[in-house]
Amino acid sequence: MLVRGKNYKTIWMEGNSVFMIEQNKLPFSFEISECKTYRETCIAIKNMTIRGAGAIGAAAGYAMAQAFNEAPADNRIVFSEKAKKEIEATRPTARNLFYATEKVFIKGLISSELAFEEAENIASKDITDTRAIGTFGNELIKENANILTHCNAGWLAFVDYGTALSPIYAAHDLGKKIFVYVDETRPRGQGARLTAWELNNSNISHNIIADNAAAGLMAQGKIDLVIVGADRIAANGDTANKIGTLDRAILAKYYNIPFYIAAPTSTFDIDCQSGNEIIIEERNQDEVLFQEGIDQNGIWHKIRVSSPGSSAYNPAFDVTPASLITGIITEKGIIKPSVKAIESLFNIL
Ligand code: MRU
Repeated sequence: MLVRGKNYKTIWMEGNSVFMIEQNKLPFSFEISECKTYRETCIAIKNMTIRGAGAIGAAAGYAMAQAFNEAPADNRIVFSEKAKKEIEATRPTARNLFYATEKVFIKGLISSELAFEEAENIASKDITDTRAIGTFGNELIKENANILTHCNAGWLAFVDYGTALSPIYAAHDLGKKIFVYVDETRPRGQGARLTAWELNNSNISHNIIADNAAAGLMAQGKIDLVIVGADRIAANGDTANKIGTLDRAILAKYYNIPFYIAAPTSTFDIDCQSGNEIIIEERNQDEVLFQEGIDQNGIWHKIRVSSPGSSAYNPAFDVTPASLITGIITEKGIIKPSVKAIESLFNIL
């Protein structure tokens, strides 16, 4: 994607270092972070320098390859197994993370070169998959459509293009007139900060809305379509995504608005029978109690926005049952969220 006229991926590797756009600083400053070791890459995943299912997957794949490269010759397997566990402990919900570590680990047992090659393949496949999601998803977007999205499932959440935003980019590139409502997505504000920044960069008309505005807009007929991303999709189509997604799905059902999930097959966990088995990450309460941003002079502040003395509970994701999902836009096409459709999706891989 273009940032100030230059083409960027969210994450890439050069030599033994992983480079990534520092997402905690966006949209106020655009910086690139370098992770020289697998442990540094782990920290970047954990502190959300890099975030979003596909981007986390690419980072985890690169971290696994870095670990093989760092492993002492006489202790290669034990070192890499331990590193794999550390990488997998960074964030528990995004399936892409485990998809990547498993694939790179298998290749790394043969050689470090193959581990790097596999990590690169995962990152490249992420780009082609999310681009294909854009092509399929564009078919759902009519001229003058008003689309609601939640959190950030744009190119910053993947290596490029994104999932929920990829159909929006495709429709815009084809000259369709569209308008996007962007949920701010408390507590971390990925919608207000990242999705809005992405859409601004691409000159796509949009408004940021407060998280609790969606029902009112739907009641007034202002939303034609909802498209969101996914962090893990179970074998029956139940989908974990950023906290607040479930509310949108319930509302969309009530107001009879199509509700689509956009995700590559690397986000599906077919060993997970239903959403009940998905582990939901709980994050630090400070994300709810405090907000960060800049003042008029560009100075960074972290301010308390909740009653001092109160604590907070901060689950990062919720699970939307398949029954509330109209369809899942994948790189292979749009499918119904059912066991049968998901099984056949994997049979054609
Ligand atoms: O906690 P994050 O920012 O890593 O959460 C991931 C997300 O941005 C969303 O849940 C998104 O919709 C799915 S990831 C493409």
